Amino acid sequence: MKKDTTALPWWRTGIIYQIYVRSFYDSNGDGIGDLPGVTAKLDYLQELGVDGIWLSPVTKSANADWGYDVTDYYNIDPALGTMEDFDKLVAEAKRRKMHVLIDFVPNHTSVKHPWFQNALTGRHAQYRNFYIWANPKKDGRPPSNWRAYGGGSAWEYHSPSGQYFLHNFFKEQADLNWRNPAVREEFDKIMRFWLDRGISGFRLDVVNMLIKDAQFHDNPKAGKGDGLENRILGQRAVYNINQSGVHEILKRWRKVTDAYKPSALLLGESTLVYDIKEMAQFYGVHDELELALNLRFVQSPFKAPVLREVIEETNAAIMAPDWPVWAGSNHDNSRFPTRWAAGDERKVRCGLIVLLGLRGTPILYYGDELGMTDVFVAPWRMKDQRGKRNWPVDGGRDQYRTPMPWRNHKGAGFTRPEVRPWLPYGDLKIRSVEVEAATADGTLQFTKDLIALRRSEADLTTGDYKSLPSAPSVWVWQRGKGTRVAINMSEYHHEVKHMHGRITLGTVRQREGEHIDGLLHLDPWEGVIIS
Ligand code: GLC
Ligand code: CA
Repeated sequence: MKKDTTALPWWRTGIIYQIYVRSFYDSNGDGIGDLPGVTAKLDYLQELGVDGIWLSPVTKSANADWGYDVTDYYNIDPALGTMEDFDKLVAEAKRRKMHVLIDFVPNHTSVKHPWFQNALTGRHAQYRNFYIWANPKKDGRPPSNWRAYGGGSAWEYHSPSGQYFLHNFFKEQADLNWRNPAVREEFDKIMRFWLDRGISGFRLDVVNMLIKDAQFHDNPKAGKGDGLENRILGQRAVYNINQSGVHEILKRWRKVTDAYKPSALLLGESTLVYDIKEMAQFYGVHDELELALNLRFVQSPFKAPVLREVIEETNAAIMAPDWPVWAGSNHDNSRFPTRWAAGDERKVRCGLIVLLGLRGTPILYYGDELGMTDVFVAPWRMKDQRGKRNWPVDGGRDQYRTPMPWRNHKGAGFTRPEVRPWLPYGDLKIRSVEVEAATADGTLQFTKDLIALRRSEADLTTGDYKSLPSAPSVWVWQRGKGTRVAINMSEYHHEVKHMHGRITLGTVRQREGEHIDGLLHLDPWEGVIIS
């Protein structure tokens, strides 16, 4: 029986699709994806079966970090389109009952933002206090040992005023001072500005960084147990991120979004937080984020015991009725078809079953539905400053931001054939919407069927999750009253006991419809859903 899910918000029953706008579809032939390009592809997305799209930053930017260094929060970046294009996209999405989320970047602005330009004019400038300034130590060194993500000290000296300003990321991204009430008020205004244009919520960038230690205490050295990012930094980011004052800001935003009917979604990123309990705190007591992105999950190896544990821990840490969100790829991490599957189609499909078969909101990154892999980007074609500045130690993030492969011909159907796209695309014969659409057994069709199944079965849409006993490398779980998912995550054949019902979806499609009565045989890297 189908549960009444009409009382739940759309993102509790639906699927979110992340679009890196510069790489989705170029409507005007300048080699850069844009907003009219997204609008042009809404039918494709509707047919795929997604309910909402999250757009990477679309506001005006100096593009040192492709949109994450904003110069104007109230305008669209000209490379991506106009405000009219944006309004049209929202309206066209609405017509298809689809929701638009935008990326919201509150931790820092571009140093070219007029606020920062004003702040540079002197210690008493009107906007000086919008940012975090501090005097040098007695010997002239920076106020603390904090390191920036992107390399070097997190402090940049401004000699005319004799003070340092803080930047947790590139030196082109000055951190805002969230202890200043005027900053809080300004950002309430920004939120309302976009909500009034009809968007359905925000993806909030690095929310766990908003507040920093007021005394700028030095961070301790990184140790063995620390995550990769901290080890790269050489220090544990204790004092420049994850301060408790952040929760007050999240509660404030929740009041802003809850005032809208229906209330808008707050989907937040707590970067560098690998600890699941710590991540779950950003949900507050149902009064902060509604979905908190799960870094531990994204960066886990594709191993049954590891993932099973992450999922169980996550489910236990988040207090119902709040629930988790699952993404396998994003613009900061290698795509799961590469990282989890090394391009192996069997594993890609198992990964898709994981993403769409768990309890929680799935986020697909553009191209996930095709099993799109990372694309090699040579150093001289790199566009991400992180790669450009730190290559070869850090290869940057371009490989997982490459153009969506629509067609199997020059330009990839992403841009015009005679135009050089801003980043290279992969092998179109192996992977493109056109090639996939021509085969009934392609990954695209598999994803569509999987999404359709998730939508049609209440067990899969909203049912609880329960791990079931199995061999360690086989992951078996139940959703709701009776739907079971079994994935053999190994190179060996396996048998799963106590399985009953019909295979409604399988990575080996010929098996669909098969009745299982007790013993389920699974080939290496085979997954099924039994209803
Ligand atoms: C987030 C974004 C990343 C960006 C950083 C700074 O982690 O996802 O792409 O570089 O914040 O804004
Ligand atoms: Ca364009």
